[in-house]
Amino acid sequence: MCGIVGYTGYRKVIEVLFNGLTNLEYRGYDSAGIAVRDENEIKIYKSLGKLINLKNEVERCKSQIKNPTSGIGHIRWATHGSPSLINAHPHTCSCGKLAVVHNGIIENYKALREELIQQGCVFRSQTDTETIAHLVALEYSKVKDLEEAVRNSVKRLQGAYAICVMHKDVPDVIVGARKHAPMLIGVGEGENFIASDTPAVIEYTKKTIYLEDNEIALVTKNNVKITDINGNIVNKKVEVLPWEPVALSKLGYKHFMLKEIHEQPDVIRNVLNGKLYDIDEAIKLNEVKIDKEKLKDLNKIEIIACGTSLNAALVGKYLIEDFAGISVEVEASSEYIYRKTTTNSSTLVIGVSQSGETADTITAIKQAKEKKSHVLIITNRPDSNMARLADSLIPLNAGIEVSVAATKSYSAQLISFYLLAIYLAEIKNSLNKEYLKNLKHELIQLPTKMEEILSNTSNIQECARKFSSYKNFIYIARGINLSSAYEGALKLKEISYINATGYPAGELKHGPIAMLDETMPVLSILIPGGICYEKILSNSEEAKARNAKLIALTSSEDENIKNLFDFVIKIPSISEILSPALTCVPLQLLAYYIAEFLGKDVDQPRNLAKSVTVE
Ligand code: G6P
Repeated sequence: MCGIVGYTGYRKVIEVLFNGLTNLEYRGYDSAGIAVRDENEIKIYKSLGKLINLKNEVERCKSQIKNPTSGIGHIRWATHGSPSLINAHPHTCSCGKLAVVHNGIIENYKALREELIQQGCVFRSQTDTETIAHLVALEYSKVKDLEEAVRNSVKRLQGAYAICVMHKDVPDVIVGARKHAPMLIGVGEGENFIASDTPAVIEYTKKTIYLEDNEIALVTKNNVKITDINGNIVNKKVEVLPWEPVALSKLGYKHFMLKEIHEQPDVIRNVLNGKLYDIDEAIKLNEVKIDKEKLKDLNKIEIIACGTSLNAALVGKYLIEDFAGISVEVEASSEYIYRKTTTNSSTLVIGVSQSGETADTITAIKQAKEKKSHVLIITNRPDSNMARLADSLIPLNAGIEVSVAATKSYSAQLISFYLLAIYLAEIKNSLNKEYLKNLKHELIQLPTKMEEILSNTSNIQECARKFSSYKNFIYIARGINLSSAYEGALKLKEISYINATGYPAGELKHGPIAMLDETMPVLSILIPGGICYEKILSNSEEAKARNAKLIALTSSEDENIKNLFDFVIKIPSISEILSPALTCVPLQLLAYYIAEFLGKDVDQPRNLAKSVTVE
């Protein structure tokens, strides 16, 4: 979604803005713009589409640009008003002296707009953001202090915002403010940055200050001043980012997605590190801040998430119910927030999110907190808004995930659920000791098995090549791999725009079978020894009888599989209960190679955003 970067300092301003925006590009956007202070003027450049268009525009105008000393930049993902030049940020006031960039949605913008028009403001765009530009400009004309003008203005805004404002009459000052949308300061020497997310600044500084809701930052090249909504100084901690800039490099891979798929064995080692190291020892999960006696009596868990995280949550449900016998409900955050739930103070609510910024999940978590539930957050961003709401926090430690389609964060979420489910089972003493030992042993082996898949992907590439021209797919599975089918199909949809549906294999005959013919391949996930192995084979036969082309994803050595299926993707032998952590890899690769084969923009698929910060 939208991204913001601001800079004031000694470096080449336009270069810093472009680097910052490039590192936020992965979030998905449809237009971009910058405002720079140059020769006592605020100059604004905008373009539709990718940043390269903006670069070309700036290049075209380079004779007008002399020596910019500060600037703000934005990539926009349209919410109010279509993607167009006029709607792209930065926005200005009627006289053009002020520039503002904004992430979020101003809910009362229509009323404000009416009011501002009455006062003589001339609106040019359809955006909610433009109201902020006029509002702050009017306030500035009264109070003659940009920070105060922003403070007075944001008091009138309802909704979510992270904003950066510059004014022609206040040289090299950037004022930032936030509410329900992330914003941070990158602290440098003789320079400072302001951004909506850390990748925008990581190339230049690892020192950051995170703004909280209702805080205002006044940023100059030598100073950062943070105040609250009443103007009181707030002393903030400077935090040091755990990431290196190399996290934002493809390291020779063609796409971030491919790099991130290949990082998964190490990610899993990271997740297990310190929590599971000896099969005879109990899982250590000090992150769960609930008394063990209370956990013994826990009888209801709700897991809330969106997208890929929702698919990981389904595996979590299966595991917690299977290992610990605790009833678990899984719900899409966007559904949870608009109904009467039975959540109460004895429910453990788990929020799962790669980004920790997904608006629907944040709203759902806030609702659960109002009902006094203990909130456990599983996220890849311990610096996120969601993490700040957590009573217990399990960080994924997967490293920055750049590709819009989630891969390594998904497998890290799965492993976190394995650890949590075993932890609960050990507290409740609900699993047999031998079974537990085997499970832990297999978990420790998992990264090596993933490496085996990743060391030779030619078969998966071949499958992608053979099947890339089909327009519809069904992925079938049963039991714990049903969520693998959902997630595999989601990956294919997201990056190749092919219609793919995950379906319970047993449900095929209750409807979808009507669609089957030679144009719709069926991919079956088959784990020998699994409770429904034979049944899924029969379901596949049913599809074959309708002329569907069949793909098997299996660890089976059975020669008959080769006769029944048109293509077989093999994985190393694994128990069914652990298999989702392995089946995800070939499914990610299959989606990747199909999309790559079709020449799609793998890392930044159309219409999608990495973190969806609006409901
Ligand atoms: C967006 C992304 C998905 C992601 C979902 C949930 O829709 O495109 O890849 O799964 O948000 O994101 P979260 O950060 O909450 O896991």
